[in-house]
Amino acid sequence: MLVEKNVQLQPFNTFHIIAKARALARVASVDDVRALLEHPLWGPEPKFILGGGSNIVLTGDVQALVLKVEIKGLRLVDETARAFIVEAGAGENWHDLVRWTLAQGYPGLENLALIPGTVGAAPVQNIGAYGVELQDRFESLDAIDLQTGQLFTLHAAQCGFGYRDSVFKHGRSAAKNAFGLQGRALIVRVRFALPKDWKPVLGYADLESKMAECGCNAPSARQIFDWVCAIRRTKLPDPALVGNAGSFFKNPNVSPEQCADIIARDPKVVHYHLSNGGIKLAAGSLIDSCGWKGKSIGQAGVYEKQALVLVNRGANMNGNGVTGGEVMTLAKAIQTSVYERFGILLEPEPVVV
Ligand code: EPU
Repeated sequence: MLVEKNVQLQPFNTFHIIAKARALARVASVDDVRALLEHPLWGPEPKFILGGGSNIVLTGDVQALVLKVEIKGLRLVDETARAFIVEAGAGENWHDLVRWTLAQGYPGLENLALIPGTVGAAPVQNIGAYGVELQDRFESLDAIDLQTGQLFTLHAAQCGFGYRDSVFKHGRSAAKNAFGLQGRALIVRVRFALPKDWKPVLGYADLESKMAECGCNAPSARQIFDWVCAIRRTKLPDPALVGNAGSFFKNPNVSPEQCADIIARDPKVVHYHLSNGGIKLAAGSLIDSCGWKGKSIGQAGVYEKQALVLVNRGANMNGNGVTGGEVMTLAKAIQTSVYERFGILLEPEPVVV
């Protein structure tokens, strides 16, 4: 397997940030990964796992050996009384998987249509949209331990899924007694349980208005897929045209008292009541309320149609464009102004490298 030296990473991250990898290897199988781990030169080097590059901010050149995961394969591996079990290689494109499952007659992933990135990256941040999270459809995954070369399987309870969070986003911390796998587990395959008694997941305002528009109250999975694609296309920039990493901050949860204080400052702040009595704030509306929509710092900007998305305003894909430093400067300026106005510290969603 070829290890390329001094590789420009701009085409491999959806923000199209300019940064180089000292060395990059494309891994298409478990054997490829093991060959690298056993290699006298590359084996002992630190490694950085790269999927679709859709949830990272590169703040400089990557010194670690970049493992670009290109493990393919889509297949039905099992069928239980309740579900179809579908397995996908970590290097498959996420949206292609969603399309393929629908074409095969296995609905369940339609609310997650058009999310950029690869299958292997999906569990890392427990991707979610329009009322469905990856963990709702997850069965298990296989991963290689980059320290020992051993292949192991994890089920949902072992993945520590949370809101845009999992065990793969955290390092080990003896102090916090945390079992983290960040940088250690290379996900090779993911299995999904797609329910045979499928029911549409509706209830999100954007989907409800699509239903009202077409006057149908029992949509098919294909219909929901089409709606989600249409909604995302109107709200979110296409990374092929405008570099971005999706939502840049998580939606914060607050107490009813904090929420009352925030609403007193701006009654337009969008918020949702949760079943546990807490309240979720739309981070996009907090940022919007601070006047950031459409603003820029250097070549990093806030998307005009959705303040939660930061974008690359530099010329894309020709060696020009935003740096990770500019993106983080903008992100910190937004955090400061939201904190000063509302007392809420927004937490970034992408992994900052
Ligand atoms: N809003 C504003 N101004 C803005 C942006 C949003 O007022 O600039 C308001 C909207 O009008 C809406 C509310 O805030 O009432 C929520 O906006 P939206 O429905 O667009 O969803 P979101 O909370 O901004 C989350 C996820 C998205 C996911 C959508 C749909 C997070 C951090 N983001 O966005 O996920 O697609 O819901 O489920 O949870 C991603 O993670 O990369 C991502 C795109």
